[in-house]
Amino acid sequence: MMSKEKVIVVLGASRGIGASIVKIFAQNNDFQIIALSRNLSRMQEQFEAFDNVYSYAFDLSSVNVREKAEEIFTKFKKIDILINNAGALVNKPFAELSHDDISLSFQVNIIGVMGVTQAAVRFMSQAHIVNISSIGGFQGSVKFPGLSAYSTSKAALCGFTELFAEEYKDTAITMNCLCLGAVQTEMLEEAFPGYVAPLSADEMASYITEFALNGNKWMNGKIIPVSLTTP
Ligand SMILES: NC(=O)c1ccc[n+]([C@@H]2O[C@H](COP(=O)([O-])OP(=O)(O)OC[C@H]3O[C@@H](n4cnc5c(N)ncnc54)[C@H](OP(=O)(O)O)[C@@H]3O)[C@@H](O)[C@H]2O)c1
Repeated sequence: MMSKEKVIVVLGASRGIGASIVKIFAQNNDFQIIALSRNLSRMQEQFEAFDNVYSYAFDLSSVNVREKAEEIFTKFKKIDILINNAGALVNKPFAELSHDDISLSFQVNIIGVMGVTQAAVRFMSQAHIVNISSIGGFQGSVKFPGLSAYSTSKAALCGFTELFAEEYKDTAITMNCLCLGAVQTEMLEEAFPGYVAPLSADEMASYITEFALNGNKWMNGKIIPVSLTTP
């Protein structure tokens, strides 16, 4: 493998922002992209034009997330960038949330992400891990009713970012967290039908890919609001 080659893992690659991220990285033939999500056929269809995209069915809510991720990563020997972009959103009034609603939110948005990250660090020497959180999980930002399970699990992802970066600060493995504002995707449309976001998935993905490639030259362990909303 040539040293200029990068191996990039995108979690939550079947649709929305993650699918756009994969397509942008795939334009560069020096990159190999590992695309992960539950919907394998949707990834295979979307990425069939690219022979540098490798799609695998992967469920963050399954048991043994770490072991399953390791099985996939072993095939690639190293990882340079991991984008923890997958997310599950439940929009329900707080009092109506079931235990399963809360549990699934935390399993997909933070517990599974920590498992995948544990698997990935074994294959990293110089790397940037980018966590995709939400502006609703950023302290002091605008909040939305109905998102207490989702946004608290995304806030946990912010906390994980600071703690991981502290533990790995003497290595070349870095981690940052982007707290996104509204982006026009199927997740947004399903949760808030009719809401019109100021950014498309492709527009947000172009920022995230650039940040994943270069942002860790300037930042480590940082939680960054990427939103047009105030506050
Ligand atoms: N759109 C917004 O306005 C907005 C705002 C703030 C933050 N975000 C965050 O941005 C990220 C991307 O969001 P999006 O709007 O592009 O959402 P999306 O269209 O719903 O895409 C989410 C992705 O996550 C994957 N995913 C969901 N559950 C999974 C599971 N159990 N295991 C593995 N993969 C799973 C989905 O794939 P499968 O269904 O195939 O598994 C899909 O590829 C998410 O983390 C979201 O929370 C989005």
